[in-house]
Amino acid sequence: MASITALRSAMTTAVMPRSPEASDMPLMSSEALVLENVTRAFGALRAVDDVSLSVLAGEKRAILGANGAGKTTLFNAITGDFPPTSGRILFFGEDITSMDPFERIRKGMRRTYQSSLLFRDLSVRDNLFLAVRGVSNARFSLRRPGRSHPTTVATQELLERGRLTHLADEMVSNLAHGQQRQLEIAMALAGAPRLILFDEPAAGLSPAERRELVLLLTSLPSHMSFVLIEHDLEIALRVVERVTVMHNGSVIKTGTPSDIENDQQVQAIYMGGKH
Ligand SMILES: Nc1ncnc2c1ncn2[C@@H]1O[C@H](COP(=O)(O)OP(=O)(O)OP(=O)(O)O)[C@@H](O)[C@H]1O
Ligand SMILES: [Mg+2]
Repeated sequence: MASITALRSAMTTAVMPRSPEASDMPLMSSEALVLENVTRAFGALRAVDDVSLSVLAGEKRAILGANGAGKTTLFNAITGDFPPTSGRILFFGEDITSMDPFERIRKGMRRTYQSSLLFRDLSVRDNLFLAVRGVSNARFSLRRPGRSHPTTVATQELLERGRLTHLADEMVSNLAHGQQRQLEIAMALAGAPRLILFDEPAAGLSPAERRELVLLLTSLPSHMSFVLIEHDLEIALRVVERVTVMHNGSVIKTGTPSDIENDQQVQAIYMGGKH
C-alpha cells in the first residue's frame, strides 16, 4: 500500500510551495466554528456520529476521510442544508443549530458544493455579479448598475481575487472544468465571508489547474477561516494549519499536517479507502 509520504513525493510536480501566510500565521484566539456532539442520522445510519470540533477565527482546516466517511454530511449540518439531528453548532459564539441556511449565509458562512451550481449560459462576470447581489442587502433593480456602483466594484474585485479577469466575458459553458471550480470559489468569496466550506474543490482538476487552486487558497485573507474537504493530500496538507480525519461518521484524529502525514492509523484507514 502506498504511504502518504510516497504519494506526496509522486505528486510534487502538481503543486506550488506552501505560502508564508499559511505556515507562519499565528492562530487567533476566538473560535469561528464550534461543533458539540453533532450527529446527523438518516434513518438508522448515523452519517455524522457525535462529532465535536472547533475551528479558530482565521484558521485553515482540512477534513480527510475515505468515501462515505461523512464529510459532506458534516458540511450539510454546518450550513443547515441537512441540520443536525442532535448536538449544537456555534458560529462565532452564536448558536446557529436550527437557523435556516440563508440566515447562516447572512452571518458570513459560505460553501462550495461537490457538483457545480453555476449558471452555464451566463458570463463569468454575470455569475459573480449575481453572487454579489445575492448576499448584499441592497434593494433589487431591473437596471444593470453603472461602473461605480458598489455591486459592480465588488464584482470586479472578485474577478481579480479569483484570478479570473481574463475570462470575465466568457460564457461559463465555454470554461474548462478547473476554471469553473475557480469561479465557484470566487463566488463563495462574495460579501466578505468569515468562514468558507470547500467540498473537494480539486476534484477532476489537471496539475496546472491544481497549481492555480493552491495559489487561490493560499492567497485568501488571514482573517478568513476555511474548512477544506480534499482527497488530494498534496493540496490538503499544504494549504492548512490543522487536519481533522473522519472515519465512519466520527472524528478519529486532529493534528498538524505533519502529525497526520506520519500517523499509521490514518495511513491505514485513509489510504485503504477508495478515493
Ligand atoms: N441525504 C441523504 N440521505 C441518506 N443517506 C445519506 C444522505 N447523504 C449522505 N448519506 C449517507 O451518509 C454517508 C456519508 O455520506 P457523505 O456524502 O457525507 O460522505 P463523504 O465523506 O462526503 O463521501 P465522499 O468522499 O464520497 O464525498 C453515506 O453512507 C451516504 O450514503
Ligand atoms: Mg462528499
